[in-house]
Amino acid sequence: MDIKDKIIKLRKDIKMYSDYYYSNDSSLISDIEFDKLMKQLKELEDEYPEYKDSSSPTEKVGATDMKSTKFQKVTHKRPMLSLSNTYNESEIKDFTDRVKKLLPDNTDVNYALELKLDGLSISVTYEKGKLVKAVTRGDGQIGEDVTENIIEIESLPKILKEPVDIEIRGEVVLPLSKFEKLNKKRLEMGEDVFANPRNAASGTLRQLDSSIIKERGLDAYFYFLIGAENMGFKSHSESLNYIKNLGIKTTGICEICKSANELMKRIDYWGEKREELDYETDGMVIKVNNLNLWDILGATTKSPRWAIAFKFPAKQVTTKIDGVTWQVGRTGKITPVAELKEVELSGSKVKRASLHNFQEIKRKDIKIGDTVFIEKAAEIIPQVIKSVKELRTGKETDIIEPTNCPICNTKVVREEGQVDIKCPNTVCPGKIEGELIYFVSRDAMNIAGFGSKIVENMLRLGFVKNIVDIYDLKRYREQLQNLDKMGEKSVDKLLASIEASKKRDYSKVLCALGIPFVGKTSAKLLAKASGNIDTLINMSVEELMQIEGIGDKMAQAIYDFFRDEDKLKLVIGLKEHGLQFSQDKETKADGDNILAGKTFLFTGTLKNFKREEIKEQIEKLGGKNLSAVSKNLDYLIVGEKAGSKLKKAQDIGTIKIITEDEFIDMCNKK
Ligand code: IVH
Repeated sequence: MDIKDKIIKLRKDIKMYSDYYYSNDSSLISDIEFDKLMKQLKELEDEYPEYKDSSSPTEKVGATDMKSTKFQKVTHKRPMLSLSNTYNESEIKDFTDRVKKLLPDNTDVNYALELKLDGLSISVTYEKGKLVKAVTRGDGQIGEDVTENIIEIESLPKILKEPVDIEIRGEVVLPLSKFEKLNKKRLEMGEDVFANPRNAASGTLRQLDSSIIKERGLDAYFYFLIGAENMGFKSHSESLNYIKNLGIKTTGICEICKSANELMKRIDYWGEKREELDYETDGMVIKVNNLNLWDILGATTKSPRWAIAFKFPAKQVTTKIDGVTWQVGRTGKITPVAELKEVELSGSKVKRASLHNFQEIKRKDIKIGDTVFIEKAAEIIPQVIKSVKELRTGKETDIIEPTNCPICNTKVVREEGQVDIKCPNTVCPGKIEGELIYFVSRDAMNIAGFGSKIVENMLRLGFVKNIVDIYDLKRYREQLQNLDKMGEKSVDKLLASIEASKKRDYSKVLCALGIPFVGKTSAKLLAKASGNIDTLINMSVEELMQIEGIGDKMAQAIYDFFRDEDKLKLVIGLKEHGLQFSQDKETKADGDNILAGKTFLFTGTLKNFKREEIKEQIEKLGGKNLSAVSKNLDYLIVGEKAGSKLKKAQDIGTIKIITEDEFIDMCNKK
């Protein structure tokens, strides 16, 4: 394809995606993919200016085709511009450098940092303090009059505290709690769910029936007062305070920073903190705070030069499914995994994503060759959310459920009422590999340096055939050292980690055994209640059910597990190698469980612990972690910049509020 054709194709694709988004309230591709296409086009147009064209999407903001809209069109008094995006500190530095370069030497520049709400932008006009008009962004020049609908947003004042003439700009959002409720209801009614809160907000605002707005709980936050520089304000932050005092909800935080480095520190902070907010944020907005500098800096046709957006790593991206592999897990469950065209998601490269089971594939109508949305929820493996049917070419093929195990070819079984298929072969190599990977994993024996690749290699070479063999690996020291990429040092390290794992607590060993339904928390309960493996093995289902936190399904699974000869052999083998099969005295005696019976929660940034570490410490000493402030909470540990949890705890009044140092003292008391 020559350059001209490439440019034409990019413009056509971008226009199609953009038009679809603005008239259907849902996207065919993710923002990141869309940005990438835009960037490609922009680069080509810059490199080959002979092909520049004023109708190119790079010259426009938002919707490119306003024909299909259902509302009255209104021309904005001032165009509603967009923002350029940045993704890392060096791009922020480029921005601050650029700002400095455009200003006279030694100009003192402050930056206001705000959350970037992920909804749809709106411009609202008040005359003599009365709300008279609300218009969507549209193509940036012409938007849609949605006044009838906007007035249904409860938090938005219809009359201001003062009779002023102002135009403000902000973002209409659907709070996350409302979004979840809405999707749940839609699912129950058999309707399509909204892919994300932004689409839901957009779909809701553009409803012809305005009563739906109130019902669904739409909200709006504002971040911009038009013409603030001519109203006597010196800074953007000052103008936001002004509108706040008039009764308007603003984006909440507006922090002042002096440098790219300082901005990045606060962005990192909010990157974590945003998870606690009830609305979706897709990044932060950095604005030059001094209003008198805005004019000097000016704007391009698309965006102002005094502001820029920083985008948080995306949780959702689009890519293509190249194929499907059926994976056998440690329990024999056979799971479909999508093999993807590699994409970046939340900062890591992703090539595979879970498709859960065949029923899900059918329900979501997913085919090989489809463009799909994938998502990574907090630390979980990526999952395929939905396929984009509009992008099908006809060459896509159906995914077929296997009748035989893809590893050992045994005929698969499906238990009654279950959706999953399973391999019933107890010695299926796929299953054994899964058991081994689980055994060495972090929550179980946590054998450092023993990843799934090594498990795979050891199995392939015949050095291990089952879990117990891990503890005999030292016999193969020489052979291991001769292996590609292993080397003397890493072999010694691996063998040392294996030895060290023999000291892991009884509860970790219990977890590592891979009893169905027993994870690290239930393993701890079982370890504490039984004291040693022999007692546990001899417990009846009823006795097991009496242990707090152990339900009937788990009790039965534990009972069955220890009635399986192979599993008993595993226990005996591991015992012979010296693994811990009884509760450590230190944690058994309640007196040493210094935090026993106490509940904890922490807030803010801690200086001595990572989030997971403090939780572990609390549990290790017998305490319990709570997930929210409630009357059941005994201690709130406050770090730096403690947020709303602190206020809530103070309001309740009975909660002891302690510092991190006081918590450490508590742990060290004997
Ligand atoms: S300022 C001319 N501030 O992000 C400056 N925008 O990608 C206008 N947005 O069109 C934008 N939160 O819809 C600004 N705190 C914030 C924002 C924000 C969300 C949206 C807005 C804008 C888009 C740009």
